[in-house]
Amino acid sequence: MSNSEFDKLSTTLGTQTIGSVVQVHQCIPSTNLLAYQLAQEGAVDGTIVIAEQQTAGRGRFDRTWHSPEGAGLYLSIILRPNFPTSQAPGVTIMTAVALADTLVGYSPLAVQIKWPNDVLLGGLKIAGILAEVTANQAKMVDSLIVGVGINVNHQAHDFPEELRSIATSLRSVTGSMVNRLDLLTSFLQRFQTEYDLYQADGLAPMIDRVRLYSSLSGRRVRLEIGRRITEGLVVDIDEQGCLVMEIDGRRQVVSSGEVTIAKR
Ligand code: BTN
Repeated sequence: MSNSEFDKLSTTLGTQTIGSVVQVHQCIPSTNLLAYQLAQEGAVDGTIVIAEQQTAGRGRFDRTWHSPEGAGLYLSIILRPNFPTSQAPGVTIMTAVALADTLVGYSPLAVQIKWPNDVLLGGLKIAGILAEVTANQAKMVDSLIVGVGINVNHQAHDFPEELRSIATSLRSVTGSMVNRLDLLTSFLQRFQTEYDLYQADGLAPMIDRVRLYSSLSGRRVRLEIGRRITEGLVVDIDEQGCLVMEIDGRRQVVSSGEVTIAKR
């Protein structure tokens, strides 16, 4: 653990559960990995693991999340909700809404959610979410690790070459350095609010915002589920957090997969 600007987080947050315990690390492989281990050891609901740098930050589909020291926010929130695993995927969408609402206050560019786990600024990726669930025998959630990576003060050279045309940071967009503690505080306070709503009523209280922020609505997309690739029109995101598509004239509800805008 380290001396860091994030050390005072749990006292300044004022949230009920989120951030009741905060661990700050200088350099670890992955906050999701450490959070998983802590959850196995009984970490309480709302525990947060933050790192200044990750050496093996992970994204969806085993991708790498580049986590240069001090540039971004890299954190994992351990949740212990009392709901079945079927409700876990919606937490990714809920987190994306909390992130989008936070970023609106920082950016002059349009904030969008690219289903299910990306947040975009001006069409470029600024944040990603990796939620990982463990369950008990009754298929109830035992722990839900919500990993969040936000590109905050990255400059172009902080991204690997292949990401420079598809990723951005708050600093690149606004032209100035952003205080990471303020940003994190504001995100976690919104996260607490949305999480309380989600536990009571699922995505219903935020579905209008999900639809408003969605970068895919009305777009033709390429959908990849494992080795299966199809194309179709995105019609909606439903209250279960699924993508509703029209594929070959038939309505289909998609609960997971990788979506990209189709080339014409
Ligand atoms: C994605 O876009 O595919 C999800 C990226 C999630 C990255 C964050 S950074 C903090 C946490 N720890 C990890 O190893 N991954 C998540």
